[in-house]
Amino acid sequence: MASNGNGHRLSDNGRNGRLSAKSGPKPARYAHITGWGMAVPERVMTNDDLARIVDTSDEWIQARTGIKQRRIADSKETTTSLAVLAARRALEVADLSPEDIGLIIVATCTPEYAFPSTACLVQDAIGATKAGAFDISAACTGFIYALNIAADAIKCGSANAAIVIGAETLSRVVDWEDRGTCVLFGDGAGAFVMQGSETPGGVLTGMMRSDGSGGSSLSLVSSGYIRPPGVGHLLNQKIQMNGREVFRFATRVMNSITREVVANAGLKLEDINLIIPHQANRRIIEAAARGLELPEDKFFVNVDRYGNTSTASIPIAVCEAVARKRMRPNDHLVLVGFGGGLTWGAVAIHWDVTPPPEVSRWNQLGRRLRYGLARVNSMGRRALRRVEGALFGSQAPEGMEPPHRGSKK
Ligand code: ACO
Repeated sequence: MASNGNGHRLSDNGRNGRLSAKSGPKPARYAHITGWGMAVPERVMTNDDLARIVDTSDEWIQARTGIKQRRIADSKETTTSLAVLAARRALEVADLSPEDIGLIIVATCTPEYAFPSTACLVQDAIGATKAGAFDISAACTGFIYALNIAADAIKCGSANAAIVIGAETLSRVVDWEDRGTCVLFGDGAGAFVMQGSETPGGVLTGMMRSDGSGGSSLSLVSSGYIRPPGVGHLLNQKIQMNGREVFRFATRVMNSITREVVANAGLKLEDINLIIPHQANRRIIEAAARGLELPEDKFFVNVDRYGNTSTASIPIAVCEAVARKRMRPNDHLVLVGFGGGLTWGAVAIHWDVTPPPEVSRWNQLGRRLRYGLARVNSMGRRALRRVEGALFGSQAPEGMEPPHRGSKK
């Protein structure tokens, strides 16, 4: 018995359905996580550092959130540069070439551009020449959503291998004068490589949920926002949050969605070896443990060292859980997230990955060479476009003048 990526169970490899009777039996496909990687900025900001900026203290932050420090991007680090590093590391673990990737999904709240998407920038940087690429927006739940979408694409055969990334530079959208929010967030990226196979396992089932009526609890305005007349500083593009509301919502949904996803995977809570939750606040995780009547050591926690890195928090936590040998082959895991939207979601995973072999220096050298070639290729394509523009003119068709040139009228 298998399941698709949205909680619906498929029977007997789909052979009984009317559709499969017409198109012939097809073996069921499963979406396995075969690579993982993370990237965080070098710069560490401790609670004491923060206490020099806003009226707060290490004691308050640790007691209310469990956070001790977070990483902050320097002026050269971007959401894309962190995403690229995480993706390269995940490809190395999976021992896969960028050309093997058919799909790249980046979940982020802090893209550099509305378009091109961060995923397209990653695609170009790693030389994934056969990949479709797009970003998704589901706040901190974004990585869970992206994982679900990629698993579905692999299971239905539209992609054979995918990279799923959560990447953020939240330090650029945090109000550094608001002690209620600036102490919570940090920067970083995490990535998975996923591959299809006929061997059962991998992502067993997933669920995505939303409640837009709670959108104002946690928001970040963007370029399309219309400021109401007479309203002053609404469009400051900084995170706005009602902490208490988000806290109540998070503790409620973590509980319910974890139970739901475990049941949908045909498992019981006691079958789950490790739960890797979105790392927003240690107290939220403790409340979830109480609600689910599970010991706290069933939950992986690293919010103390990175703060809330939004979409990146779950894949970063998975990388650290692997490094600390918290997962063994054949373990059952739940990844569970919540965030702005409001959104929440979870996936149940059969962790059927054996530890990857050490990557040889030759392999690493080969990879570096490949990324260098990808850059040269990209530069070549850009140069070709400029030559084409010079030869044939780069004027847009009538009525489609690029906005920066202004209107002809
Ligand atoms: N340092 C010192 N005092 C502070 C700070 C601070 N950094 N921040 C707030 N306070 C004060 C408040 O001003 C308030 O003072 P008052 O009683 O004199 O008015 C007091 O501390 C209590 O404030 P609360 O907001 O009630 O504190 P609470 O216990 O709720 O903790 C927190 C606040 C940590 C933000 C908590 O509500 C929380 O974690 N909420 C969830 C947030 C979250 O997870 N957000 C991310 C969602 S994921 C996404 O999509 C981005």
